[in-house]
Amino acid sequence: MPNPDQRAPETVTATGCPFGASAVAPRSQQGEFLTTATGTRLRDSDHSLKAGRRGPTLLQDHHLREKIMHFDHERIPERVVHARGAGAHGVFTSYGTGAKITTARFLAEKIETPVFVRFSTVLGSRGSADTVRDTRGFATKFYTEEGNYDLVGNNIPVFFIQDGIKFPDVVHAAKPHPDREIPQAQSAHDTFWDFVSLHTEAQAHTMWNMSDRGIPASFRTMEGFGVHTFRLTNADGETCLVKFHWKPVAGVHSMTWEEAQLAAGADPDFHRRDLADAIEAGAFPSWELGVQVMPDTQDEMFEGIDLLDPTKLVPEELCPVQLLGKMTLNANPTNYFAETEQVMFNPGHLVPGIDVTNDPLLQARLFSYVDTQLTRLGGPNFAQIPINRAHAPVNDMLRDGFHQHAVHTGQAPYRPNSIDAGNPAETPEAQRPFVEVSTPVSGEKVRAVPATFDDHLSQVRMFYRSLTPVEQDHVAAAYTFELGKCYENPVRERQLAHLAAVDTDLAKTVATGLGLPVPEPSTKVADVEPSPALSQVKAEMNFPVDGRIVGIVADDDADLAQVKKASAAVEKAGMTPFVVAAHGGHLGGKKDVVIDRTLLTTRSIEFDALLAVSAIAPAPDSAAAFDAKAGDPSGVPNSAVDPRLTLLIGEMYRHCKAIAFLPEAEAAMAAAGIEAGTPGIVQEKDADKAVGTLVDLLGAHRAWDRFPRSSADPRAGRDVVTRAGAMSHRPSSCLPGQDCSSSRPSDSRRPERASTSPPDGVSWVASASRLSTY
Ligand code: HEM
Repeated sequence: MPNPDQRAPETVTATGCPFGASAVAPRSQQGEFLTTATGTRLRDSDHSLKAGRRGPTLLQDHHLREKIMHFDHERIPERVVHARGAGAHGVFTSYGTGAKITTARFLAEKIETPVFVRFSTVLGSRGSADTVRDTRGFATKFYTEEGNYDLVGNNIPVFFIQDGIKFPDVVHAAKPHPDREIPQAQSAHDTFWDFVSLHTEAQAHTMWNMSDRGIPASFRTMEGFGVHTFRLTNADGETCLVKFHWKPVAGVHSMTWEEAQLAAGADPDFHRRDLADAIEAGAFPSWELGVQVMPDTQDEMFEGIDLLDPTKLVPEELCPVQLLGKMTLNANPTNYFAETEQVMFNPGHLVPGIDVTNDPLLQARLFSYVDTQLTRLGGPNFAQIPINRAHAPVNDMLRDGFHQHAVHTGQAPYRPNSIDAGNPAETPEAQRPFVEVSTPVSGEKVRAVPATFDDHLSQVRMFYRSLTPVEQDHVAAAYTFELGKCYENPVRERQLAHLAAVDTDLAKTVATGLGLPVPEPSTKVADVEPSPALSQVKAEMNFPVDGRIVGIVADDDADLAQVKKASAAVEKAGMTPFVVAAHGGHLGGKKDVVIDRTLLTTRSIEFDALLAVSAIAPAPDSAAAFDAKAGDPSGVPNSAVDPRLTLLIGEMYRHCKAIAFLPEAEAAMAAAGIEAGTPGIVQEKDADKAVGTLVDLLGAHRAWDRFPRSSADPRAGRDVVTRAGAMSHRPSSCLPGQDCSSSRPSDSRRPERASTSPPDGVSWVASASRLSTY
């Protein structure tokens, strides 16, 4: 409390609104008139104050000076990494299953905790394209009643380096070359491949980037991983080691490489827009939070895997993910800068019941984030920025500094003190303070890692061999593309030698594409059993279609009743319809069917599926001189169909997306050379039925059987895709030499129960509790 002779400033917001006033948005601009920053109303903001109409500007023009001064300083430094991001607000609801392994209150039964999530790319600058090949950040701030908890993860479960001291090296190698500052947001260049081929612990993360995980379809369909191992403590003081996972309810989906490239040009904000549009449409993205729970043994190993090595994952078949709660993102930020840009995360923001481990990468991160934010956010008080504020009482004894918002009372911001009656008090055990888990530490001061960190390639082989052939093709193509963009042959050869160690056929395919011989393997790699859970293509894929986008193609003379029916059915299924026609405005001149896209403005990447109600006759703007897409020579020449529609259908086909069409659209399909009966291509008589079929097909995301296999590819003989149904595929658990009868871990692969018993409810292994269905 202030002393009787003291008074604090009036409690008004940054825009002059009294606290507790009934204003709807007390932090937003107030009043109806334009003012200076200090609230003086202005008559003219369009002309500076001059000595005569043609005269020089006067120094006394405070409004001019304030306006330009503020504009000059609008930008703050972008993040050193993860500069481009998109955020959303939401809520996390716990199932209560976590209560047995941690005292963290927000994981007790049915607790609702507000969250803010920021998704990001790593390499690109703030204005770079969304769909580049890169790792994605997945950072979540839980505003818990015990203080903020940040889970600062990625969409890839392993990292490039084992020790944080190498972070500047990997980032310098991956960022644009320092001389010309190109290429932007790309790993397809010499310095990246130079580093990862020399620093072999980077090989696992690199292969994940070369896989479909490097080009997610949307933020909504990404998995998230805490990467490091964390230590949890329960009410009985028992500890366990865990790895955090976010499982997207919509399934894990990726783009094809061609889609990613098209999107980077046609809609560089693709992922940002998708997230915001889905939330606006009420298709709230959601994830389940889960943990792999492992015994806290002295050696911190599990099944031969060193849990402190962040370049290694623990296969879900050995330790299933057990679900703790569900997060739903249900609101877009009001202001990008105030929220998404100014939010700060830190893996050191922990709550009682969750602690860090000695993972040397995590240890460096604990230093890095608070350090970088000091510069990025311009001073030490960034925890007071609205998006970063705790929803728990703060009494921190931190004082002063740039942008101090608090008006601290008292005279003794130190402990111990008697002058402020000893306040604030340290928290007694019963009131749940954060207490680090007491773990023994010993050893010599060394710059070294344990021998259990030495194997860098066996999990690379495991990852590759856990993928379906279609996914493996994409990996091979990505390596060939990226190394093909390098100029330095020694770099390519060194990387090829690592691929030869991982998988000979993969190395052969890439070497063929590069026109290089297959080198000797760089080393001998131990065989590790595949982990089918790592594949995105599952035996049963029936994911929800909420928020998916269906293009409805129609011409002016199309049956408008069918177009309306199609739109209504798409909306009823929770998806978004986009009517695509030859021109803007309304279809057939009738005001009731609004056209969302024209053949000029659209591109196939916008749609998850297509419903062609009719063909579209060549429009007046379908001249190559006006729209180069009209000059695309693909498809069967047909003067009755706009060539851009042929291109649209052809691209959707190539990207293995579902297409339904009504009889009036037969000419368009014929022009594209595509027949009904091909996997994922269906002809229906009625729009309602067509939408129903599309919903079924979209559950599997793509028509996997349509992906071509190259006969020049030495791996093409491994044809293991079943042809049971239009969009079906072989069970992902059914790799060569494996038992295909079950996707659950077989008992023989379960680890020996450790001497420490797991707490009830959540188990070390798959014995009790909820088993992940992923
Ligand atoms: C020693 C290794 C690492 C260092 C030094 C480091 C450093 C940084 C820095 C400086 C930022 C920018 C933060 C800001 O300006 O607010 C950042 C952001 C981020 N880092 Fe790391 N990082 C490391 C490893 C990792 C790892 C292993 C992960 C994933 C598990 C990760 C995930 C993220 C994410 C998601 C962001 C973006 C946070 C946001 O959206 O604001 N980082 N990192």
